[in-house]
Amino acid sequence: MKVLITGATGLVGQELVAQCLAKGYTVNFLTTSKKKLVSKLNYQGFYWNPKVGEIDEKCLMNVSVIINLAGASISKRWTSSYKKEVLESRIDTLNVLYEVLDKSKDHKVTSFISASAIGIYPNSVDHYYHEEETAVDDSFLGEVVFAWEKKINEFETLNLRTSKVRIGLVMSANGGALPEIAKPIKYYAGAAFGSGEQWQSWIHISDLSRMFLFIAESNLKGVFNGVSPNPVTNNRLVKEIAKILEKPLFLPNIPKFIMQTILGEMSYILFASQRVSSKKIEEEGFIFEYQNICNALENIYDKSGMCNIPENNVRNKYAP
Ligand SMILES: NC(=O)c1ccc[n+]([C@@H]2O[C@H](COP(=O)([O-])OP(=O)(O)OC[C@H]3O[C@@H](n4cnc5c(N)ncnc54)[C@H](OP(=O)(O)O)[C@@H]3O)[C@@H](O)[C@H]2O)c1
Repeated sequence: MKVLITGATGLVGQELVAQCLAKGYTVNFLTTSKKKLVSKLNYQGFYWNPKVGEIDEKCLMNVSVIINLAGASISKRWTSSYKKEVLESRIDTLNVLYEVLDKSKDHKVTSFISASAIGIYPNSVDHYYHEEETAVDDSFLGEVVFAWEKKINEFETLNLRTSKVRIGLVMSANGGALPEIAKPIKYYAGAAFGSGEQWQSWIHISDLSRMFLFIAESNLKGVFNGVSPNPVTNNRLVKEIAKILEKPLFLPNIPKFIMQTILGEMSYILFASQRVSSKKIEEEGFIFEYQNICNALENIYDKSGMCNIPENNVRNKYAP
């Protein structure tokens, strides 16, 4: 299989590339940064500048699957100009891909799989979200993901099998939210946020990358939640990280207004609650390697013997 990956140089992309190469797949990737270009037999970079509609059309050569991960990070202060970049980076990239596929008469692409995010689901501590949910969160993130998915749906008109993976909190030692949450805990200053009752639907980075490939290999289409079977509350997440790092937690939860003062509107990410189901992808036959947070963290921090629950005994422990 030959796969074209956008955002391949990012957190999820790097793991996905590693898994593709380990399986013997050939990877083409698109990057906005010329210094990240690499040219190897099985891993070839191509430059694009979606802002001005520029793309190297050779990136499509013999590609059967496109996996789209590109987009400006949401973990920067949400100024009005940065908010524009978060949205436009997702829409511009899709526009460029759409146009090049539409124009190329002899491409071999059959599947288009794109990242999306669970931020589309309304903030709630009660709901248990499945893919059929139609309500959209009334926030900047909800607005971005809704527009992003609407654009992704247009790829169906090109007769491609089109899928969206609504990604949750990606757990990795190399970037994303986990190192940021773990940092104060390491320095004895860790605490949960607000009531700590908000749900965090997380996924181990290895399972997420395997899920993208599972969708490609199984010719699936539609929406799939990219979350593990057992979401946890923020209170529990912080406790589990502290346990694995063998650090005490003694500070009270950090009130919302403090984080709002420090981070501005972006603090929303810390307090939003989405309890999301992984049932649909499991029913397609996908098996999670990391089903509970303790085992995932044990793997990420390279510890063992820290979890009292055996991995195979916790399936959907928290599902209603
Ligand atoms: N990590 C999470 O917890 C999480 C949760 C939900 C959803 N997601 C989504 O999953 C995708 C991958 O996440 P990630 O954590 O791997 O993201 P990431 O580390 O920020 O990487 C995203 C990649 O997108 C490219 N990019 C950045 N700004 C861009 C722009 N303005 N135009 C075009 N490309 C741009 C960059 O690649 P180049 O520099 O090579 O161009 C970058 O390496 C993202 O779309 C993200 O929104 C992630």
